[in-house]
Amino acid sequence: MKKRIAIFASGSGSNAQKIMEHFKYSDGAEVALVLSNNPDAYVLQRADNFEIPTHVFDKHDFYQTDEIVELLKRLEIDLVVLAGFLWLVPENLLKSFPNKIINIHPALLPKFGGKGMYGDRVHKAVLEAGEDEHGITIHFVNENFDEGEIIHQARFRVDPGDTLEILKFNGQQLEHTHYPKVIENLLKKYN
Ligand code: GRF
Repeated sequence: MKKRIAIFASGSGSNAQKIMEHFKYSDGAEVALVLSNNPDAYVLQRADNFEIPTHVFDKHDFYQTDEIVELLKRLEIDLVVLAGFLWLVPENLLKSFPNKIINIHPALLPKFGGKGMYGDRVHKAVLEAGEDEHGITIHFVNENFDEGEIIHQARFRVDPGDTLEILKFNGQQLEHTHYPKVIENLLKKYN
């Protein structure tokens, strides 16, 4: 049976797009559900284009009920993939999917992570710190922002004069190539 992936995203979903493309014709795994806390998130449109079911939830559903856990269990989800999802994952979800929830972060953790470190703020901080390298991190999710065990990192050089846009673009390219492959490799290890 194919392994089943659920993607959580709050915004555009360019990573979700790459993951859906990657597994569209896969024999090993499929994206079974896309979830968002944001009813206007473009990721929902992207999922529709792939004819993948979507589910929108609010803060109450997520933090005060078991609705999301039950949905993921009912759909026999094997791996939960966060791709630009901005909310902290609650304990009931972490406990129900131990080591089965992963996230991608646009920096080389443990640097430039934590609450409030997302989007352009990350790249701005990297430039301000005068870093000569930057990159991405794929990691397991725990109860804190950006702190779970690191699964994979990819890096690139920061050249003098590089702008925020350049860092962002280079990081996105890495995210789009690495995330689908890391997911595929991880799923191969599950029985
Ligand atoms: C990515 O940079 C990812 O690292 C971070 O949020 C961003 C999501 O971008 N967690 P997108 O919605 O996939 O385009």
